[in-house]
Amino acid sequence: MSTPRQTEYAIHPQFLERWSPRAFTGEAIAEQELFALFEAARWAPSANNAQPWRFVYALNGSPSWASLFGLLGEKNRRWAAKAAALVVLISRTHHRRPGASEDSPLLSHSLDSGAAWASLALQAQHSGWSSHAIGGFDRERARSELGVPDGYQVELAIAIGRRGDAAELPEDLRAREQPTQRQPLASLVAEGRFSFASA
Ligand SMILES: Cc1cc2nc3c(=O)[nH]c(=O)nc-3n(C[C@H](O)[C@H](O)[C@H](O)COP(=O)(O)O)c2cc1C
Repeated sequence: MSTPRQTEYAIHPQFLERWSPRAFTGEAIAEQELFALFEAARWAPSANNAQPWRFVYALNGSPSWASLFGLLGEKNRRWAAKAAALVVLISRTHHRRPGASEDSPLLSHSLDSGAAWASLALQAQHSGWSSHAIGGFDRERARSELGVPDGYQVELAIAIGRRGDAAELPEDLRAREQPTQRQPLASLVAEGRFSFASA
């Protein structure tokens, strides 16, 4: 039994209710439902409103599933096989600013794409789905296999599914199947000056 997540200040419960399970039921997600998650991501803020995020997805059982699933590292493949969908988040690294004749770098392309990922994750939670970010995948192979052109960076894989029974996970993963905790605010926030103890 995990310790319930507790906040130091009152916040909307959605932030505590979202967590990243590994046990999925295998239930399919309708494309419409998946697109509602992309819709939420679409409304994330970004520098210059450049919206650098791009999503490549595969539904479990579709012809493209094997190609996305095969990008995952072995440890992640153990649990992600029962996800309903896999998404690869890609960001555009350059942007043509209004009136400019050449592209210039978008310094915050990863940051902005992270905001889009967070929106997707929260919308999934609202809609009764769970999401789990996966950094453990082959970004270089994703680039070639998914046809990602220059000027784009492969950021993250995301598993989406209906949360399942932890008992069905391999034993070592079962113990980790619970919401994680967070560092205290005092170790994350300082007034006026960077005054944190080094970890
Ligand atoms: C960028 C990123 C990469 C991650 N990579 C993996 C991964 O490869 N495998 C995995 O099981 N979880 C991965 N996670 C999930 C994190 O471990 C998880 O979000 C973190 O422990 C906080 O837990 P919570 O999401 O349940 O609140 C990743 C999360 C992020 C944001």
